[in-house]
Amino acid sequence: MESTNQLKTLLDKRAEAKLGGGQKRIDTQHAKGKLTARERIELLLDENSFEEFDMFVTHRCTNFGLEDQKYLADGVVTGFGTIDARLVYVFSQDFTVFGGSLSETFAQKICKVMDMALKMGAPIIGINDSGGARIQEGVTSLAGYAEVFQRNIMASGVIPQISAVFGPCAGGAVYSPALTDFIMMTKKNSYMFVTGPKVVKTVTGEVVTDDELGGAMVHGTKSGVTHFIAEDEQEGLLLIRKLLSYLPQNNLEEPPLSVCLDPIDRFEDSLNTIIPENPNKPYDVKDVIHAIADDNEFFEVHRHYAPNIVVGYAKFNGQPVGIVANQPSYLAGVLDINASRKAARFVRFCDAFNIPIVTLVDVPGFLPGTTQEYGGIIIHGAKLLFAYGEATVPKVTIILRKAYGGAYDVMSSKHLRGDINYAWPNAEIAVMGPKGAIEILYQKEYMQIENLEERAQFIADKTEEYKQKFANPYNAASYGYIDDIIEPRNTRFRIIRALQSLATKKVVNPPKKHSNLPL
Ligand code: HXC
Repeated sequence: MESTNQLKTLLDKRAEAKLGGGQKRIDTQHAKGKLTARERIELLLDENSFEEFDMFVTHRCTNFGLEDQKYLADGVVTGFGTIDARLVYVFSQDFTVFGGSLSETFAQKICKVMDMALKMGAPIIGINDSGGARIQEGVTSLAGYAEVFQRNIMASGVIPQISAVFGPCAGGAVYSPALTDFIMMTKKNSYMFVTGPKVVKTVTGEVVTDDELGGAMVHGTKSGVTHFIAEDEQEGLLLIRKLLSYLPQNNLEEPPLSVCLDPIDRFEDSLNTIIPENPNKPYDVKDVIHAIADDNEFFEVHRHYAPNIVVGYAKFNGQPVGIVANQPSYLAGVLDINASRKAARFVRFCDAFNIPIVTLVDVPGFLPGTTQEYGGIIIHGAKLLFAYGEATVPKVTIILRKAYGGAYDVMSSKHLRGDINYAWPNAEIAVMGPKGAIEILYQKEYMQIENLEERAQFIADKTEEYKQKFANPYNAASYGYIDDIIEPRNTRFRIIRALQSLATKKVVNPPKKHSNLPL
């Protein structure tokens, strides 16, 4: 009899915890088009795989009448489960309890799953939907945030950390997602800012909405804070599952191999003609990526930010790789501040997690101008240079067309320990393009030629001479800087063979406390 009562108490308490802040607040959450903390976990994880911790935790605050307002689980649902049968740890903030605000005990719950994720070497996924520090708690809430930040920092480069922002994320609360590897936002209801619109108006007089200040599109296109923008939460959670399929569980494991039914020696004839005859004409490098990857699949990261460089994941014969590719169809694929930062962060993530890097090069150089120089292109460009030079994972580089100037060096060149560097036959590898080169080398001479036809002929002859010498891959290949010149349609096969040969690569950087990446 007693045990029946005890069981009933347990079941009642569980039911109470599952209601969070109550049905009314759940209805409000749904009315906004948002899911609850638990519904999100259900969608994220494999069916019935979730094991919850700390459902019976309540806060310890007695300020402002809070001793009479307690909710089981205290506003955050935590635990572990699986995604595609692989272990992950999760926390999901519950907006129905004090607006998902972070208390001392709330933070302790998050810290517990973060500690376990690190101990077990499994990814941690945090779903954020919170009004920030629980105001009634004061400094213990701030302390809780910092405890979480410290764990984010310790876990960085050890286990993948993924943040979904499915509601407000304001004030210092933004720094936990910012310290993680990937941020996912949704087009509606999702916003992040250090100071909200009201403070902005008071301090600067600027009038701005939540969305204009920190919505998904702003962070996807302008700041680059978010890596993914989902239509809705369902899509966002599916994308997180997909992302994990490319990643190892931790930095000591290799990324997961899958069975590949796509023939490895599949010729892709379209690639032999994809490069326009006119070197100044664009093409979409994503067509190249799709053409060479397993099942033509490419999982793009940071799609909306700095589209002059494309980064993301693909598989080659079932092996996950990170792809970095200059995009000739946007700003001619030039390297600028944003592109350098975007690609550098991606390369460093791949290197930290043993994911080989395939680099597709078609770059006219660095973007000139005062905006770039004043913005620190020197330092930001150096980030990408540093990231490639520091990376010890297998690095395969294909020069598709242009590789000019410093950008040639930066884009995983042989000299930055590129392991296998190929070029397509139409590649142009030089200090600069023919037009700029002829102007610098011969301007004085050709300006002395008064007959315009003769001047044009002189320029044409010199341009041809320059092209013969440099606008091809053979000069670089004669130095061994290019390992082979390959038929474009056979690129998939050549990459797969290159990756196979590099599978046992071992390179160790000199011991140091840490590098001094140009920040
Ligand atoms: C305690 C909070 C809260 C908070 C919201 N609530 N934020 N309780 N601490 N920080 C409670 C509300 O009282 C309300 O309780 C419920 O959550 C829902 O809030 P609403 O305002 O009704 O919801 P909504 O209109 O959707 O607005 C959401 C919101 C707004 C935009 C998040 O609540 C808001 O502006 N909150 C304060 C945000 C903020 O300034 N936080 C501090 C940031 S500084 P009831 O009982 O009515 O359901 C910070 C420092 C961190 O976080 C530093 C780390 C280093």
